[in-house]
Amino acid sequence: MSEVVKVIIEGKTYECPVIVGSEGEKAFDITTLRQKTGYITMDPGFGNTGSCTSAITFMDGEKGILRYRGIPVEQLADHSSFVETSYLLINGRLPNRQELTRTSVQLNDDSLIHEDMQIFYQNFPRRAHPMGILSAMLNALKSFYPELEDTEEGINRTFLRLLSKIRTMAAMSYRISRGHKVVYPRADYSYCANFLNMMFDSPVRPYELDPDLVEALNVFWILHADHEQNCSTAAVRVVGSGRVNLYAAISAGIAALWGPLHGGANQAVIEMLTNIHQSGADIGDVVKRAKDKDDPFRLMGFGHRVYKTYDPRARIMKKMCDTVLPKLRVEDPLLEIARRLEEVALTDPYFVDKNLYPNVDFYSGIVLRAMGIPTEMFTVMFAIGRLPGWISQWKEGADDPNWKISRPRQVYTGNTSTDYVPMNQR
Ligand code: CMC
Repeated sequence: MSEVVKVIIEGKTYECPVIVGSEGEKAFDITTLRQKTGYITMDPGFGNTGSCTSAITFMDGEKGILRYRGIPVEQLADHSSFVETSYLLINGRLPNRQELTRTSVQLNDDSLIHEDMQIFYQNFPRRAHPMGILSAMLNALKSFYPELEDTEEGINRTFLRLLSKIRTMAAMSYRISRGHKVVYPRADYSYCANFLNMMFDSPVRPYELDPDLVEALNVFWILHADHEQNCSTAAVRVVGSGRVNLYAAISAGIAALWGPLHGGANQAVIEMLTNIHQSGADIGDVVKRAKDKDDPFRLMGFGHRVYKTYDPRARIMKKMCDTVLPKLRVEDPLLEIARRLEEVALTDPYFVDKNLYPNVDFYSGIVLRAMGIPTEMFTVMFAIGRLPGWISQWKEGADDPNWKISRPRQVYTGNTSTDYVPMNQR
């Protein structure tokens, strides 16, 4: 007989079937719990709640494992490209040579954005945050490309269009925010090289592509490509569950990623390290503040809901700082501060006992700085990297025959039935 979990409510026993994942993870299914018992479960922050089954990404937070479609992220970082990894996530397998070439050609063909969109970019206030602009413009893309998405070909086309255009849109918003001329994509450049060129090429000084930088960006984006049911991906799935179009669902994901507890942490880390550098604050005092319950300050880039050990992405990112910065002859004082901060925190019982280790955002900002990416664009870089993950998670949800609109319950704690009081009696 298959395994069940028994729940006893008001003396009566109910059996919940157990679901076992391909890596042995277990859950018990409470789908019929309310219907049978009148009870719901309570799990703020969803730390114990599975919202779906998924065959895309596997994480083991205790062992520090991250795999896309079964392949360790370390192997992808060593051998793959961001485009190939995107294909893997969305289609469930690595492409053959022909499929990869076809994908690259399509990405080139789709890389321009409608010229009318530039008008919108021109009219955002100069100080608007690029994440707000990206979220708004991604949503607006649907109006410019309203084609039907309900054939398989149409849907695949939309995926590639999004992957290609997000990079052009991000670079464009940066150029316009600086008052600089927009640089168009080039068909002879790879995905990552094209982005760097659109960001930094100038009529007075043509941008010289550095293969080390291009590779660093490639690895950065691979490491961010998916992370199962995190805040922004959950947002994409929840918004998508109402059968909204893909552009709107991705736009919601971008908005969710913006928060400093999520993708916005990469910007917050650099701001924190810069503050320490500029104020000359003692590292011990900074760690003390992070531990103080009466102080809202947290060590940004530390801690994770799932990882209770070193984030495997942070390990790669840290190694990248050690290899890429010297190659580029970049000496960043923030790297030394980050290393010292990590050293102090990792020997402090508060961080050790709570399993707080550096996450992907702790070192990623230092790599982005070395590339010349401005701090306010860091979370946009995360968003470009996460796009294939959002697309594949949305697709998995949309293809699921048991897909339901997301609609959590609550336990109401407000007034019981109360009569309306006319204005002259209040
Ligand atoms: N500095 C100091 N204390 C911390 C930190 C931190 N960075 N992170 C967690 N804690 C403490 C927290 O105060 C709590 O203590 P207590 O049990 O005494 O109340 C305990 O550790 C557990 O923290 P939590 O907030 O309940 O854990 P969570 O799983 O809800 O939150 C987190 C995870 C990532 C939001 C949190 O660790 C955090 O705020 N970190 C800093 C922001 C950050 O770096 N975010 C990027 C995450 S990785 C990128 C991504 O994928 O989103």
